[in-house]
Amino acid sequence: MTFGGASLSGLAPMHPQWDLPLPGFAKVPTPYWFGAQAAGYGDLDPKEFGIVVARQLEERILELGPDRVASFSAEPVQGAGGVIFPPATYWPEVQAICAKYDILLHLDEVITGFGRLGAWFGAHTYDIQPDLMTMAKGLSSGYQPISAISLGPRMAETILNANEELVHGFTYSGHPVASAVALKNLEVMERENIVSRVGTQIGPYFQRRLRERFEAHPLVGEVRGEGLLAAIELVPDKKRRAFFADVGSVGTVCRNYCFDGGLVCRAIRDTMVLAPPLVIRETEIEEILERLGMAIDRTALDLGRL
Ligand SMILES: Cc1ncc(COP(=O)(O)O)c(C=O)c1O
Repeated sequence: MTFGGASLSGLAPMHPQWDLPLPGFAKVPTPYWFGAQAAGYGDLDPKEFGIVVARQLEERILELGPDRVASFSAEPVQGAGGVIFPPATYWPEVQAICAKYDILLHLDEVITGFGRLGAWFGAHTYDIQPDLMTMAKGLSSGYQPISAISLGPRMAETILNANEELVHGFTYSGHPVASAVALKNLEVMERENIVSRVGTQIGPYFQRRLRERFEAHPLVGEVRGEGLLAAIELVPDKKRRAFFADVGSVGTVCRNYCFDGGLVCRAIRDTMVLAPPLVIRETEIEEILERLGMAIDRTALDLGRL
């Protein structure tokens, strides 16, 4: 909600009310393979597509002038934008491009940080070496509002050697209560091996069961995910990677059926997205699958697809 944060965000509906983005922010396309055909990329396989989208970053940098581009910001996996997992080729290529033009790499780990993907950070999952990372939600498991930024040596040394104060304080920056809760949360996560449980046990179980339950469903075009983050694309035609004409209406119907059945599940456009608590158990995952299955079935019935 800061002007800077909102200007960086691709959530364009947030912009007009505040006359954003501010000058100095540019956008590049997202590595959304499932949507690639609809976006006019043709029939590329995920690996080819990852490279093509990364190269669009390079083109944009060259257009703007590499000396005018300070940093590239992205989530390791795009969350609110649609739970978009990049193809395996995307991050290596993006990192090479940032290195080539001496551009800082900023990872937004607000969703992916602290175990969501089965490693401590999305940077680990995708083997990314960022220059700075922003973090929040999982830092306190949501029990206290807290966020954090971590700077690598390139940024830290520059700031330390600048011989002037970096003006960056919020009223509640460094609040001791939020910090104490975050530290305790991290201690519990380490003590109970929560991240490795997500990576090796409950995350793989969740991913396997989601695919078993929904991949063959007539309304489902793709099930994707990693750790305890997943997305299910509801589509008009199972054989094609295409979207409903009235984007979001089917997702909203399904979301409402979820709520009816006692399951809180978000729809982003027509994609049902899931991010259960990291301490979830197998039996609770089965309960989610059952309730979500009912909601997807009811949606399919409404559409005459079941
Ligand atoms: C990935 C990601 N980054 C950032 C934010 C919000 O950032 P801020 O609180 O600074 O507006 C969110 C909010 O949900 C988010 O999901």
